[in-house]
Amino acid sequence: MKIKTAVFPAAGLGTRFLPATKSQPKEMLPLVDKPMIQYVIEEAQKSGIEHVIIITGRGKNSIEDHFDMSFELEHNLREKGKSELLELVESISSMITISYVRQKEALGLGHAILCAKHLVGNEPFAVFLGDDIVDSEEPCMAQMIKAWDKYQCPVIAVEKVDMANISSYGVIAGDQTEDRLYKISDMVEKPKVEDAPSDLAIIGRYILTPEIFDILEKTQKGAGGEIQLTDGLRTLLKSQDFYGYQFHGNRYDTGSKIGFLKATVEFALKREDLGAEFRDYLKNLDI
Ligand code: UTP
Repeated sequence: MKIKTAVFPAAGLGTRFLPATKSQPKEMLPLVDKPMIQYVIEEAQKSGIEHVIIITGRGKNSIEDHFDMSFELEHNLREKGKSELLELVESISSMITISYVRQKEALGLGHAILCAKHLVGNEPFAVFLGDDIVDSEEPCMAQMIKAWDKYQCPVIAVEKVDMANISSYGVIAGDQTEDRLYKISDMVEKPKVEDAPSDLAIIGRYILTPEIFDILEKTQKGAGGEIQLTDGLRTLLKSQDFYGYQFHGNRYDTGSKIGFLKATVEFALKREDLGAEFRDYLKNLDI
């Protein structure tokens, strides 16, 4: 079966970015001049995803507006002959089919994914978390879909991280079966360094089978009173083979301030229209 649908949970409160996120969604914060969510939706589109289901909550309306047509703006740009900008704005609303589901209460990532059950149906699907932005030649999800096509079982993106930081992640235990592919035997959420089964951290890209929905429905609230995705994945692991895929590319943790800043600087340096001037500016900084 092909992976055609993706779920994008965006109903979290974004507390690490307060006060910026008091009245605007974290997903709309820009890296240079593009909202974070657009980077991820572009990855989905380039990976062959046809339909994205965004899980939203209160205060997230600007996400819907961003991917909608903007008649006034488009009319204005047309009148003024700003054809490049017009093309840019029009391309966003025609990028991909998007549906929205409201998560009424922020009851956790597992619960957010469960909110998409009726739209996903009985098919395998991808999950993208907007806090992880991957800069790579071949989109991260496209790489993972190749592993899915071969094994037709759940695949999660993993990355080797410094052991000093391992306690911030979900971590897999498993055996390497191929270049960049690990058969997962267990996963632990935010382990102490001494308890971590490996240095392979789970990153916000998943390919899951629809059985996860029934499991999440039965999953009790875990850490923080939330329905945790990892608890559901551990149950799914008992009945299905499960792979970790170590993707090619640079991953930025844009859900943290330092990761957000690193991505901003590196993306700006790579821009044709800004890179040279910005590099010069950074070189001469004397603070
Ligand atoms: P995080 O744990 O990063 O939470 O959620 P957050 O609210 O986005 O940010 P902080 O930690 O308060 O700064 C991981 C992902 O799961 C989504 C979030 O939108 C984010 O994409 N999520 C989380 C939901 O959609 N619903 C929830 O109930 C919880």
